[in-house]
Amino acid sequence: MTKSLSGLFISFEGIDGAGKSTHIAGLAAAFSDEGRAVTLSREPGGTPLAEKLRALVLDDAMDPLTESLLIFAARRDHLVSVIAPALRRGDVVLCDRFTDATFAYQGAGRGFDLKVLATLEQWVQSDEGLLGDPAGNQPMKPEVNTVIEPHLTVWFDLAPEEAALRLAGTRIPDKFESQPIEFFRRVARGYADRLQNHPERFARIDAFQNREAVWQDVRQVFVEKGWLEGATCHERH
Ligand code: TMP
Repeated sequence: MTKSLSGLFISFEGIDGAGKSTHIAGLAAAFSDEGRAVTLSREPGGTPLAEKLRALVLDDAMDPLTESLLIFAARRDHLVSVIAPALRRGDVVLCDRFTDATFAYQGAGRGFDLKVLATLEQWVQSDEGLLGDPAGNQPMKPEVNTVIEPHLTVWFDLAPEEAALRLAGTRIPDKFESQPIEFFRRVARGYADRLQNHPERFARIDAFQNREAVWQDVRQVFVEKGWLEGATCHERH
């Protein structure tokens, strides 16, 4: 956890079709309304280089290690160029997917070695060199080898069958979206395992509800943490 960074780092997760996007936009508006600077981003992607790697990952067939390496390469560039600077400025960083997606999709979904993913996570998300002051002289914290990870991960939990129904016909499916339902069952179990291993970081949202109810639950998580004011904000959705 990156407690020495003054910003807030929030990631959003779920299987394809779980309905993250509108709520990420709603939160961005809610934080802006309360005077916070917001950095909105996504993975894989978020920088010109990482977006190129995203296109390769989503369009081209490749073995799971190649895929994981490209995803973590994109993540490193994103962390160095966008996320760490935004956190140092004190922004609220709202990131559509982060490393839990790699454990869920490449790990649980594709059956790739979780220990290798954990090693890549340690290398790529090491805060060494990322937490220095803007002049790059003094480290902001004495500890070394801390791994940068979100302060909070909002997991939109939806049954794969329902997600498939919601996605049907909405867009041309990419490499992952065109996987069979059994793949998404494994990915969903992967997310459940991540929650079990990181209960303090995860907030599970029942994404089967209607959009307004999901929004109220999402908002409530942030209100309970003291990150958003308590007044309801129905007009957003
Ligand atoms: P998106 O459509 O939500 O932007 O996500 C892009 C796709 O990439 C989605 O199917 C999940 C997949 N993905 C991985 O397989 N591993 C990862 O680490 C990330 C961040 C996304």
